[in-house]
Amino acid sequence: MGTKERLLSLFENHKGIFFSGEDIAEKLGISRTAVWKAVKALQEGGYQIEAVRNKGYCLSVETDILSVQGIQKYLKEVCSALTLTVMPSLDSTNTFAREKAAAGAPDGYTVIAGSQTGGRGRRGRSFYSPSGSGVYMSLVLRPRHYSSAQAVRLTTMAAVAACEAIEAVSGKQALIKWVNDIYVEGRKVCGILTEASFGLEDGFLEYAVLGIGFNVTPPAQGFPEEIRDIAGSVFSRKENDGKNRLAAEFLNHFMTFYCTAQETDYIENYRQRSLVLGREIQVLLPGRPKKAAALDIDNSCRLIVKYEDGTTDCLSSGEISIKI
Ligand code: BTN
Repeated sequence: MGTKERLLSLFENHKGIFFSGEDIAEKLGISRTAVWKAVKALQEGGYQIEAVRNKGYCLSVETDILSVQGIQKYLKEVCSALTLTVMPSLDSTNTFAREKAAAGAPDGYTVIAGSQTGGRGRRGRSFYSPSGSGVYMSLVLRPRHYSSAQAVRLTTMAAVAACEAIEAVSGKQALIKWVNDIYVEGRKVCGILTEASFGLEDGFLEYAVLGIGFNVTPPAQGFPEEIRDIAGSVFSRKENDGKNRLAAEFLNHFMTFYCTAQETDYIENYRQRSLVLGREIQVLLPGRPKKAAALDIDNSCRLIVKYEDGTTDCLSSGEISIKI
């Protein structure tokens, strides 16, 4: 870790507390000039660092810039195997992580960006990923001996983990619109896109890239017209440490499922958070939508529906719509 990163770690762990230049120099084993240079570099990177004569330097509690140091302070032991990389901006964290995975990145390689210029959603859609208001993250996962049916579980775990993380940081209830859209107060605040590569010979999962995007606060320019009626954010206004904390809480909850949980632990949780079960929905089949009742979600996360003519169907992907 360079001097700037070590100083950031000190500040992130003691936000709102003043350290004299001398104190910092001693703690980091560097000169006062090196302290001053590192403070300046952080300020240039957008960190609000107050410099007060006779008191020293202090990172404002209001600063919420995504960083490894800002996230790490909230991570639990279960995340110790993760390798975190944080970038201000990327085309798409999923594309970046897929390239890393193809080149051999290990299980737990995680990339987080403050914005995406080509954020991707399901079904070839784009995912609005402006700077300053969201967290866009992808994890390379290499669970052993996973069939394609088992791979679906990663998305299910992520959906439940996202809900738990949102509830932990905001106190608001988070629900899941099948398959993997997370809603708070009737608005979509988070989407998940899992991409996978399977071995040709054994059909087992080689790696998955789990991508998740959170709208943490309302974007400065507002949401674009086409998603304005659906999209929302976890917090209604800027929250101290909102982005770093939400990113860390998601990782804490996801890794707990990934490393230790039995299927039943999160599948039942997923069902209980379902926005669709017991409701009338429209299944968006090619051609025309078809009315159905959403009856159940099975252990492979398939939605069991009953159409008006009494026939039933088991949907493993696809689109549904529901009045929320
Ligand atoms: C959806 O709602 O259709 C899924 C959206 C998934 C967005 C996330 S943001 C991080 C990762 N990188 C991407 O390009 N997409 C996923």
